Formats: sequence, C-alpha cells, structure tokens
Amino acid sequence: MKIAVFLGGCSMERNVSLASGCAVKKALENNGHTVKLIDPALGSDQTPLQPILENFSASTPITLKDLSLLPSKNIINTINSKHLDDVDVVFLALHGEWGEDGKIQSLLEMRGIPYTGSGVMSSALTMDKGMTKILMQHFGIKTPNWFILNSKNYDESNSANKIKNEIGFPAVIKPNDQGSTVGLTIVKNVDEVSSALKLASQFGKSILIEEFIPGRELTVTIINNEAYPIIEIKPQDGFYDYKHKYTKGMTEYLCPAPISEELTKQVQAESLKLFQISDCKGFARVDFRLKDDSSFYCLEINTLPGMTETSLVPKSAAAKGIKFSDLCQNIVDSAITEFKNK
Ligand SMILES: Nc1ncnc2c1ncn2[C@@H]1O[C@H](COP(=O)(O)OP(=O)(O)O)[C@@H](O)[C@H]1O
Ligand SMILES: [Mg+2]
Repeated sequence: MKIAVFLGGCSMERNVSLASGCAVKKALENNGHTVKLIDPALGSDQTPLQPILENFSASTPITLKDLSLLPSKNIINTINSKHLDDVDVVFLALHGEWGEDGKIQSLLEMRGIPYTGSGVMSSALTMDKGMTKILMQHFGIKTPNWFILNSKNYDESNSANKIKNEIGFPAVIKPNDQGSTVGLTIVKNVDEVSSALKLASQFGKSILIEEFIPGRELTVTIINNEAYPIIEIKPQDGFYDYKHKYTKGMTEYLCPAPISEELTKQVQAESLKLFQISDCKGFARVDFRLKDDSSFYCLEINTLPGMTETSLVPKSAAAKGIKFSDLCQNIVDSAITEFKNK
C-alpha cells in the first residue's frame, strides 16, 4: 500500500509527534509498504521537512512563539496538495490540537482518504476533557470532581474560593484541551491559584480545575475494542509531567501493572466502556488515578496516543506479544475496514 504518515503538525506536542511519525514510518516500511512522511504544518511545500527531522528533540516542547509560525491554514493546503493524490491511507501520528481533535479528520473525510484512528465527532469530543467527563459522569465512570473556566474571562478570587469550597486543595489546574501535561499545575493552596490559571489560560480556550487524586497512575490501551495489559506509571519524583513523559529513565513503567486480577478487569472494563461510548475507532489510551483504597478515577481518553517504539501503547501491545510493526499494521487495517463500512 501507499501510506502517508502525518507527523509534526501545529500543536504543542509537535516534537513528540515527529518522533511518533518516524517510528511508524520505519515499522510500515518493514511491513513492505511505500511510506512517505508529511508534516501538515508545512503546507504544499514539504521540502523543509528533512532538515526538521534531522534536528528535533521530543524531550522539549515547541515554544508558543515558534508554534505561531506554523499557521493552521497550511493544513488545508497540505490536504489539498498533490502529495495525497496517490495515497491509499493516511496514518495519523499527530497529537493534540489540529491533529487529534477531529479537524484534520474532517478535511480527510472531505478529500475521501481513509485515515487511522477515531472519526471527527469522537476525536473532537475526547480532545475536550470537560465534555468527556460529562460523558463519564452520565455513564457512571468515576472521574475527579471538576469545574470549567473561560480562559479569557475568569474571576481569580471567585475561582480560588470555588476551589477551596467545592474541590479542595491540592487541586489540579490544566488546559481543557491539551496533552503531554502542557500547562498543568498542581496547586497546594489559594496563593498558587493565580499563576496556575494564567499558565493554563495560555494553552486553550478553557481551563479545567480538578480534584487531585492521590495514589498511583495507570493507563490502559484499547486496540480494536479490546483492553490490553495495564501499565503502571511510576515517575522517579514529582508527577508525570512533560519531562517525565519524554526523558529516558525518568519514569518506571510496570506492565502488566502489579494490581489484583479483579481490579485489572474492572479498570479494563471501564476503559473499554469509555472507548465505546465515545465512539472511538482503531485504538486509544485511557488514563487513570488509583487511590490506596482501590477506587480509581478516569482522567481522559487519548485518541492519538504516542507511537514511538517505547511509548505506552506499543509497550502494552508488546506485553501481549504484539510487535510494533504488527501493531501499526493492525491500526492501518482497521482504518481500511472502517472506511469500507462507511
Ligand atoms: N486530577 C488529578 N489528580 C492527580 N494527578 C493528576 C490529575 N490530573 C492530572 N494529573 C497528572 O497530570 C498528568 C496529565 O494529566 P492528564 O489529565 O492525563 O492530561 P494530558 O495527559 O492530556 O496532559 C496525569 O498523567 C497525572 O500524572
Ligand atoms: Mg494524559
């Protein structure tokens, strides 16, 4: 098959996506496909991509200033360009805004090209953490208490009071629609609220304020409607922020997670339920916090999770004996099936 792997893109997670895309290309080539890399942030002229690929680091995020030099309009030009004339399927190795949130999926639908992962509605819904939490609440999936603020128009002292009275400290303040822990602060008291709100407000239209769930961290991979072995994530210190996610050796990953079989089944069942009620397709990854009393709380579902060979989804697949190249092939196959069934 002729496959275009989309990587990079116009989000804060651009550098992680460059790493995902390169890994996926290698895997798909090993499977005998003809693969080209396309960065939708570059538009119809893809010549700058090669030097970019020779000089990026996933362990530091792009700055907001550099991101502003990559206008989302370029994505339309990319989708409309000749680069996609001879492509059988697009493998989306993008993460975050403009890649994981249904917008590029919508353009690919218009152009009539199959793409991997979830569709327009599902991607848009799950990129919005608050909307996903409403869905979880409706279907009885436990999620930390929360409220939402408008990034451009919030009252600082009212918000601090509301946290004190309704959520309690510590609390988590994060952009409502980012990934990779960008713009997230765990605030311990009222004095820390102001700067945390300012930070989160830079990265999205709304801010999610959430109850802090102490304990352990779990993540569950779903591939084609099946829950895979759970991973326990143990950051060396602090919490699972950008640095701990993408710097080698800063986090320990235990797979299968050392929790009881009964708890494993429960967490997997809730993950699969969220995958299905949000109408996800192909694959996704669901993040949880686990308290000492074994109660667990869902934070979010990621429809285009990291896809380097050492990312969480490939780790979980490997624990079930599935090689990275077979995982990528499965994802392509389900995209083709999904397209034919439309
Ligand atoms: N309510 C919470 N309680 C405890 N830790 C949290 C909470 N929300 C986020 N975190 C920490 O921050 C990380 C990132 O948060 P998450 O909601 O998964 O956003 P994203 O991964 O999209 O940036 C989590 O993996 C977890 O370590
Ligand atoms: Mg997460």
